[in-house]
Amino acid sequence: MPPLPLFHLLLVAASLAEPSAGNMLDPGMCQKSVACGDSVDVRYPFFLTDATAAIVGNTAYSYCGYPGMAIICEGGRATLRLKGNEYTVLNINYEDHTVTVADTEVLSGGDCPRVTRNVTVPPEAWLNISTTASINLSFFFDCVFTAATPPPPAMSPINCSSFLGRDRVSYVVEEPDVAPADQWPRACKGMVVVPVLKELLLGSDEYLARLNSDGYGKVLKQGFQLSWDPSAGPCFMCEQSKGQCSYNQSGEIHRLLMLRRQRAQPGLR
Ligand SMILES: *[C@@H]1O[C@H](CO)[C@@H](O)[C@H](O)[C@H]1NC(C)=O
Ligand SMILES: *[C@@H]1O[C@H](CO)[C@@H](O)[C@H](O)[C@H]1NC(C)=O
Ligand SMILES: *[C@@H]1O[C@H](CO)[C@@H](O)[C@H](O)[C@H]1NC(C)=O
Ligand SMILES: *[C@@H]1O[C@H](CO)[C@@H](O)[C@H](O)[C@H]1NC(C)=O
Ligand SMILES: *[C@@H]1O[C@H](CO)[C@@H](O)[C@H](O)[C@H]1NC(C)=O
Repeated sequence: MPPLPLFHLLLVAASLAEPSAGNMLDPGMCQKSVACGDSVDVRYPFFLTDATAAIVGNTAYSYCGYPGMAIICEGGRATLRLKGNEYTVLNINYEDHTVTVADTEVLSGGDCPRVTRNVTVPPEAWLNISTTASINLSFFFDCVFTAATPPPPAMSPINCSSFLGRDRVSYVVEEPDVAPADQWPRACKGMVVVPVLKELLLGSDEYLARLNSDGYGKVLKQGFQLSWDPSAGPCFMCEQSKGQCSYNQSGEIHRLLMLRRQRAQPGLR
């Protein structure tokens, strides 16, 4: 007789919503790990969705994964939407609970991209910008200095060719280098703050020394890090026993999928 398997998987699906046939959570839907392109593996608490379904409020569907962690996979590119803006997913680390993303607009913006938006992570995304891994770059665009508001003495404006030949100058600086009392930013028209990977920027001279030329673009294209905290969510207990949850459009638990390990041999416990 072949030896009995030590473990077998017991699947328990528990519904919090009114039980109905259409409500059943397909266990396969939760467990699937899907490759998107060469470097991104999409699995719980992320989930794949198509571009139209990702528009919140579109349909009354539910998803297996955390709210706001929908990934659109198109042409090998994984995209996460934050406040309607598209970010390309560069890497997901499921052990450290971090995801590295870069502004899609910046990735397609040439060597010296013009950054047009602040990064805003809405609370409903269940993601936070990793404070330890990040440092902010501040951009000041289209500055016109006067005798009353002179340029900063120790900083060089962005000197990429796409920024030259205008009557205005722009700057990119590490956020800590601008004091709230500084007057010169008032001479600038647009200000944008974007997080970048701290280790990358401060780890060597490669980017910092050329920040005002092509250095900033290179750093931006490597993205910034967001993290999630499973223990902050309502599914933590369930996940501890290898379960997963699906949520409805309001981000409330719709179904629990408990996947429990059970001893097949009685008496061993
Ligand atoms: C994000 O940060 C806020 C404030 O520090 C915290 O309350 C929240 O639980 C964090 N969310 C996640 C998903 O880590
Ligand atoms: C970056 O800027 C944002 C918004 O201006 C701020 O909330 C955040 O704390 C800053 N991050 C760091 C690492 O300084
Ligand atoms: C970005 O945030 C700063 C405050 O941190 C604000 O002054 C600026 O107007 C914002 N820029 C855009 C493009 O929304
Ligand atoms: C732009 O500035 C960098 C230093 O940050 C310098 O190496 C480079 O030669 C400058 N380029 C031009 C076109 O002035
Ligand atoms: C989500 O589920 C909660 C609790 O079951 C319910 O109150 C809420 O109306 C649901 N939202 C949607 C959009 O279905």
